[in-house]
Amino acid sequence: MIRNLNLFLRANVHSIHGKLLMPKKSYLTHEAFEKIAKESLFIPKMNVKLKETFVYNDVNLAIHKEPYRSYCKSVGESDVLKIFGDISVPTVILDEYNFMRIKDEYTYTHSINTTLLVICLCMMFFDDYQKMLQVVTASFTHDIGKSRIPSSILHSTMPLSDAEFDIIKEHTIYGAVLCCHYFGDFYSPATIAAFQHHEKKNGTGYPTSIRLKDDAIMFISIVDIFDALISSRPYRSQPYDVRGAIDLLCASVQKGELDEEKLKMLISLNRREKQAVQSIEYSITNRGKIPKQNNYGVRVYT
Ligand SMILES: [Fe+2]
Ligand SMILES: [Fe+2]
Repeated sequence: MIRNLNLFLRANVHSIHGKLLMPKKSYLTHEAFEKIAKESLFIPKMNVKLKETFVYNDVNLAIHKEPYRSYCKSVGESDVLKIFGDISVPTVILDEYNFMRIKDEYTYTHSINTTLLVICLCMMFFDDYQKMLQVVTASFTHDIGKSRIPSSILHSTMPLSDAEFDIIKEHTIYGAVLCCHYFGDFYSPATIAAFQHHEKKNGTGYPTSIRLKDDAIMFISIVDIFDALISSRPYRSQPYDVRGAIDLLCASVQKGELDEEKLKMLISLNRREKQAVQSIEYSITNRGKIPKQNNYGVRVYT
């Protein structure tokens, strides 16, 4: 997955308990990740199901907010809650999310919202419960690296400079290092999702511009964008409405960035009448509301 990366770390990456996992200026090679995974095998790990943790209380709150409520209802709210509760993570991940809840509440809530919607899509796609659990676990931890990004950048209301945007992009690499250490596996779905969830089908994403093919990551990436669009963010005056967000995703499918089948599945959650995903048709005419002022994607040049 990560051979010939030509990427190096811009900052030290520490575990939540202060252990230096990878020093800055390290080249990201397969061997460097293998070393982290190997070393973590000697650290005793205890796993806990999310239904036994503080996260589950917040899941119960999130599932009653629109549009998550309607989507979860359409596939079965109690099934969604059961799957979320069955997610099993090393206890240290909870220390990470406790920290994230304080430092960057948006990303904490976004991790829960995204996972709710990924569960809805996965319930339509996977027959194998354990495979589905791996994907939804990876969804929960996809942005774990965000808490290593400076708050001044995370919470900026102003257009970012290219240098600041490059720092934001690093959360994918930090996340891969953290998941590799916590899950003890370079190839775990969580490590791969943290690393690849901003990659695109046509190779225009980051951090390595691979052509994304993995169904699991494509579920996470489309829902990730959708949730970010319909959420309040400091850099724009108001969120996109659901239709405005779908308009943007449709445009992204047209450009070859996102997978059309995953878009249709997301659209099917919005339709009152149940319809086979293959037979779903959608309009590419913009019909939604977009924010009047939006600094996202706007760069300042210094
Ligand atoms: Fe992300
Ligand atoms: Fe995200």
